Amino acid sequence: IYRVSAQLHSIPKRPSFGIAFDIDGVILRGRTPIGDSPKALKRLYDDSGCLKIPYLFLTNGGGIPESRRASELSQLLGVNIDPIQVVQGHSPFKNLLKRFENELIVATGKGEPAVVMSEYGFKKAISLEEYASHFNNIDPLSPYKTLTTKQSIPRFDVKSERVKAAFVVSDPVEWSRDIQVLCDILRSGGLPGEKSDHQPHMYFAADDLEYQAVFPSERLGMGAFRIALESIFNSIHHKPLEYTSFGKPNPFVFKNAESILKQLQQKSQNFETLYMIGDNPLVDVKGATQAGHPWFSILTRTGVFKGKDNHTDYPANQVVDSVQEAVEYILQREG
Ligand code: G3P
Ligand code: MG
Repeated sequence: IYRVSAQLHSIPKRPSFGIAFDIDGVILRGRTPIGDSPKALKRLYDDSGCLKIPYLFLTNGGGIPESRRASELSQLLGVNIDPIQVVQGHSPFKNLLKRFENELIVATGKGEPAVVMSEYGFKKAISLEEYASHFNNIDPLSPYKTLTTKQSIPRFDVKSERVKAAFVVSDPVEWSRDIQVLCDILRSGGLPGEKSDHQPHMYFAADDLEYQAVFPSERLGMGAFRIALESIFNSIHHKPLEYTSFGKPNPFVFKNAESILKQLQQKSQNFETLYMIGDNPLVDVKGATQAGHPWFSILTRTGVFKGKDNHTDYPANQVVDSVQEAVEYILQREG
């Protein structure tokens, strides 16, 4: 197994470049490594298993805490990945802690959205699923669904306390319930059944319309869910939905990645080049291009992008067949 940070200080010559890897469609398809990703990552370590090149994963996916994702990735890819090297779509939610630390917030999406938020320090985070279970008949379709949630003893005073913010942490599983209950929360000032003009805050971890999963053609992502929620909300409410989306291509994400890579390099030296290896022109390439210097985009053909030449609207600096080819290209270019 390859080690990461402990021996970083022993890197003889500090490289003035770093790499950000997209996950879905570049490193993995579902849980299966693609494009020889384990081999590509091993190239970034020396013979004794110490990291030579600072790198991180910059994914719009998520649903479990970064520490758990790091161990999952380490297992799947055969290198020892530190949680600091895992930036997920919802990672920036940490920065909202001051604002909502002691407020009632709801979180939804695949995996364990409320656990993610609690680990960030939010004291009153509840999953939308658990929240909905305390409002009888809030989802009239639930009797027809095979997934049933048992009603637990309310951990917070959900029947009288207003929800201050709703977070879509990862791709929603139960679209019809989530859209119904989010509309209830958002147009009632945070307490379903009430009436209020004040919309609680609404945050999305990412805005990918489509992404590459196991199925051969792209799957609908969080951006598709946002469009569905927004369009329904705007049709039933007199004021349009106000929301914020994080994740790539948001320039903030690239700034944040740059500062984490600097920490991994253990020196606040500026990078000459930071490589973003992604499969989605509208997300990965657009983001790197908008972020500007020192970002350099490399588009792989293993995911959303399957074209022969470059993408027309968001051309990458380089197009390659796989992540392994991308890493070889970088190592050659950097001499
Ligand atoms: O749900 C995951 C998807 O939105 C994209 O993940 O790794 O391609 O940024 P990634
Ligand atoms: Mg991707």
